[in-house]
Amino acid sequence: MNHPAMQGLALNVPAHVKHAKLIAWVADVAAMCKPDAVYWCDGSQAEYQHLCQRLVDGGTMQKLNPLKRPNSFLALSDPSDVARVEDRTYICSANKEDAGPTNNWVAPAEMRATLAPLFDGCMKGRTLYVVPFSMGPLGSPIAHIGIELSDSPYVAVNMKLMTRMGRAVYDVLGAEGDFVPCIHTVGAPLAAGQQDVAWPCNKTKYIVHYPETREIWSYGSGYGGNALLGKKCFALRIASIMGRDEGWLAEHMLILGVTNPQGRKYHVAAAFPSACGKTNFSMLVPPAGFEGWKVTTIGDDIAWIKPSADGRLRAINPEAGYFGVAPGTNMLTNPNCMRSLTKDTIFTNVALTDDGDVWWEGMEHDAPGKALPAHLIDWQGHDWTPEIAKQTGAKAAHPNSRFTVAATNNPALDSAWDDPKGVTIDAFIFGGRRSTTVPLVTEARNWTEGVYMAATMGSETTAAMAGGNGSVRRDPFAMLPFTGYNMSDYFQHWLDMGQKLAAKGAKLPKIYTANWFRKGEDGKFVWPGYGENMRVLKWMIERIDGSGQGHEHFSGISPRYQDLNWTGLNFSAEQFDIVTRMDKADWQQELALHTELFTQLAHHLPQALKDTKAAIEKRMAA
Ligand code: OXD
Ligand code: MN
Repeated sequence: MNHPAMQGLALNVPAHVKHAKLIAWVADVAAMCKPDAVYWCDGSQAEYQHLCQRLVDGGTMQKLNPLKRPNSFLALSDPSDVARVEDRTYICSANKEDAGPTNNWVAPAEMRATLAPLFDGCMKGRTLYVVPFSMGPLGSPIAHIGIELSDSPYVAVNMKLMTRMGRAVYDVLGAEGDFVPCIHTVGAPLAAGQQDVAWPCNKTKYIVHYPETREIWSYGSGYGGNALLGKKCFALRIASIMGRDEGWLAEHMLILGVTNPQGRKYHVAAAFPSACGKTNFSMLVPPAGFEGWKVTTIGDDIAWIKPSADGRLRAINPEAGYFGVAPGTNMLTNPNCMRSLTKDTIFTNVALTDDGDVWWEGMEHDAPGKALPAHLIDWQGHDWTPEIAKQTGAKAAHPNSRFTVAATNNPALDSAWDDPKGVTIDAFIFGGRRSTTVPLVTEARNWTEGVYMAATMGSETTAAMAGGNGSVRRDPFAMLPFTGYNMSDYFQHWLDMGQKLAAKGAKLPKIYTANWFRKGEDGKFVWPGYGENMRVLKWMIERIDGSGQGHEHFSGISPRYQDLNWTGLNFSAEQFDIVTRMDKADWQQELALHTELFTQLAHHLPQALKDTKAAIEKRMAA
C-alpha cells in the first residue's frame, strides 16, 4: 500500500497520540481512501463550533433562530438516506453459522474484495476526521474505546454529542490500549473542482462488521446508526460479540433509576424495539398519585452490563447523548425530553418554522388547544401547510427524524449516569409493540422463563428501519437487527449468565415483559402510556420488594386490577381487562409463531427454551 506521505498527504499526528498501531492504521486508511486532509478531533467546544460552521457553510446544516433554540442546528438528509439499512448490514464472521440465520452473511475475504474498490479513493476531495471516543465513562472497567475514521463532519459533531469524544481518550488508550477500529465514508468522492452536495451519500450502501477482528466498515450512508458507528455497530453488534467472548452483556436497553417515597433506589434496564418509546420511558415523569416517587435517566437506548465480584449485574450507558425519534415527542408525552432540546441540539429531518425554529408531528398536542402551524418548510425543503398535508398526507417531519443532544441537557439525568462503576440492575423489562395478545405486564417465574419471554418477543415494525410498515416480526430481546452473532448462541449466553450469577449466590434481577400498545376494537390504544407507565413500574418494584401481589397464569405472573395504584387516573376494570386479557385462541396462534421462530433458529437452540415452551403449552392445555 502507498504510504500517504508518498502521496504528499500530511498525517498531522498530534503529539499526545502515542499509539503506534493506531497511527499506522490511520496511515493505511488514508492511503486507501485518499482524502485531501487528515484532521484529528480533540473534542473541544471550539472544534465543535468550527465544524458546525463548516456544515452550515457547506449547506448540510442551518443554524436555528438563537432566540428560539440557542446553539442548535437543522440538517436535512438526502431523501434516500433516512434510516438504518438492515438489508445492507452484514456480519462477516469466518463461519456462516456464527452469524446465524438472522444476520446477512458474506465470507470476510469476499466482502473485503467487494469493499476494496469502493473504499479506494472514496474520500477524495474530503477531509478524513479521526474521531476518538469512549463508550462509557472514561477509564471505567465496563467501558471500551473506539476510533472512527470518517469523511463526514456531520458524523464528527454528532459523535461529540453522543459519546465521550476527544483528547482524553488517548490518555486512556496510552501506547498500546485496545480500540475498535471503525471506518466510515459517505462514498461520494469529489473530483477536482467538483461542487459538493448538501448531503453526500451513495445509493450503494454497506454496513459491515468483522467479528473476529472486531472491525466496522461503513459505506454510502451519512445517517444515524449507519454512520455514527459507536452506536448500533460498536455498542451493540461488535460489543455483543465481545460480551459473548468475555462474559458480559451488550443490550438494546434503556437504564433508569426509580426512587420510592422512602428513598430506596432501584435500577431497571428495559429493552424495546426501535421507536417504541425507550427515550420516553427513560425520562418518565410520575403522574398524580405518585407523589414522592422519582425516575431518573441513566441511558435511553443501550446498556453494557458486566457481572461484579458479588454476582450482581452492574450497568453503564455506553453513550453520552440521545439520538431520539422526534415525531410524537411533546410536553405531554415527554416533558423532560422537550426541556433537553431547548438548546445545543442537532435536529435531522424535522420541519422548519417560519421563525427559524423546528416542528414535528405531535407538537400540536403540546398543550390543549394548540394548533398546527400555518406554514412550514418540510424535511425535504418544500412548503408545507395543513391544507397540503390534508390533501397529500405529506409529513412535515420524516417519521424517523431525529434529535441529537448531550445527556447533560436532560433535567432528569441520574446522578450516577457517569459513574465508572455503573449501577446495579434489579430488573429487566422486555417490551414489544403489539396491538393484541400480549398483556400489559407479566413477570417471569424464573430466569429461564424470562429468557424464553425475551427470546420470543414480537413487535410491529417502525420507521426506524427502512421499509418498516407495522407488520409483526419476531424481535428477540429487541436485538434482531443488533445481535452480532448466532441468535441461539446469544440465548445460550443469557442462560449461562443466569447460571453463573446464581452460582455466586446472587439475587438475580427479575424479568418482565410489557406491552403498552394494546388496541381496542376501535383501533385506538387503550393504555394511556407515557407517565402512566409508572403504575406498572411501581408494581414491579413492589414485586422486587416482595410486597406486590399478582395472579399466576400459564406464561407467568400478572397484576390483577386491584394490584395496581389507580389514584389520579380514570381507568376502569373493563379497560384493564382489554389490555391484560389472554385469549386462548390468540395464544395458540402466538405459540405457533414461537414454533416457527424456533425452527428458524434450530441450530444451537438451547434445550431449556424448548422445555419452557412445552411447559407453557402444557399449562395452557390444563
Ligand atoms: C435507534 C434505533 O436509533 O434503534 O436507537 O434504531
Ligand atoms: Mn435503538
